Amino acid sequence: MEKKRALITGVTGQDGSYLAELLADKGYDVYGFMRRTSADVPAPIEVLNDKGLIKLIYGNMRDLPTMQRVLDESKPDEIYNLAAQSHVGVSFLCPDETWDVNFHGVERLLKEATDRNKQVKFYQASTSEMYGSTPPTHTETSVFSPVSPYAEAKVKSHRLIEEYRSKGFFTCSGILFNHESPRRGKIFVTRKLTRAFAEIKLGFREKVGIGNLEAGRDWGFSGDYVRAMWMMLQADTPDTYVIATGKAHTVRDLIEAVAKSVDMPIHWEGTGLQEVGKDAQGVVRVEIDPRFYRPREVDALCGDWSKAKQKLGWEPSVSFEQLIDMMIQSDIREIGAAHRA
Ligand code: GDD
Repeated sequence: MEKKRALITGVTGQDGSYLAELLADKGYDVYGFMRRTSADVPAPIEVLNDKGLIKLIYGNMRDLPTMQRVLDESKPDEIYNLAAQSHVGVSFLCPDETWDVNFHGVERLLKEATDRNKQVKFYQASTSEMYGSTPPTHTETSVFSPVSPYAEAKVKSHRLIEEYRSKGFFTCSGILFNHESPRRGKIFVTRKLTRAFAEIKLGFREKVGIGNLEAGRDWGFSGDYVRAMWMMLQADTPDTYVIATGKAHTVRDLIEAVAKSVDMPIHWEGTGLQEVGKDAQGVVRVEIDPRFYRPREVDALCGDWSKAKQKLGWEPSVSFEQLIDMMIQSDIREIGAAHRA
């Protein structure tokens, strides 16, 4: 039987890297769509694991000719669109870029891909940010009420995916709640905190500045979530699924859990911008930095993943505590290795 071919946009990100490994392990030929920077060499990079091929090729969600070239070269059976300007806070600073990548990029890719192959299966990375509002838990049918340029563009793309589906194309949307790992970018709150507390623990740093302590998020493990993406494209019919753990924690809970995992329990003193988190010796380890507040915030998000469980047989395998432990241990190892080198 012919090997399946998959194209992953955003392959160099956290989810892209886990997904590329998963698909290569399943025997796919994987094409990774990678944005070129001025420092990059022109040649594509190929990585062969023992079962499949991962080939990185240059592409850009904002540039039609490169996108067309990538599709002609990779001839994918499955496309996983993970490329995005993915930082919600940055989207307030760069709304046009966010809109162009996160909506027009999807529009271009869908059109070019389906023009070339009507049978192509397309996964779109939708997001819990689309909800904006705060019912206790969110399902596939909860109302969207986006509050950031990031979320507005994602809602528009989500609608486009549904429109293509209604015309008979195999397009799926994963409404993914926050998902993290040791590969998470350090500007996202989980990794920022595991990195900071690893540095504090090892004596390389004294404290960390943080924004909104009361925001609540449903944090899961990226490795589990990319498995759900693949399962969606293997189902008999295309659909939309919430992927989450069903358990929410606040940023304050997160800080306490991260601090506890390095045996440095934190207690809180003060209120508002003056609130600080101190260790057992009374040293300030966390302080509020208003630069990390967002112009508009999504207060709380928690997902109901029962449809994914029923229809796909998917479930999360890593708890909040296990996730934090995995991330902090990895940061401690990484910092240790960098200082020994
Ligand atoms: N990044 C960051 N840095 N966030 C902070 C900080 C800080 O210093 N302090 C508080 N927060 C709060 C944010 O205001 C937000 O409420 C929450 O922590 C989580 O922020 P992020 O980790 O940046 O993630 P996000 O929820 O905005 O978005 C992520 O998850 C979405 C849902 O899956 C991103 O990965 C999005 O691309 C994704 O769609």
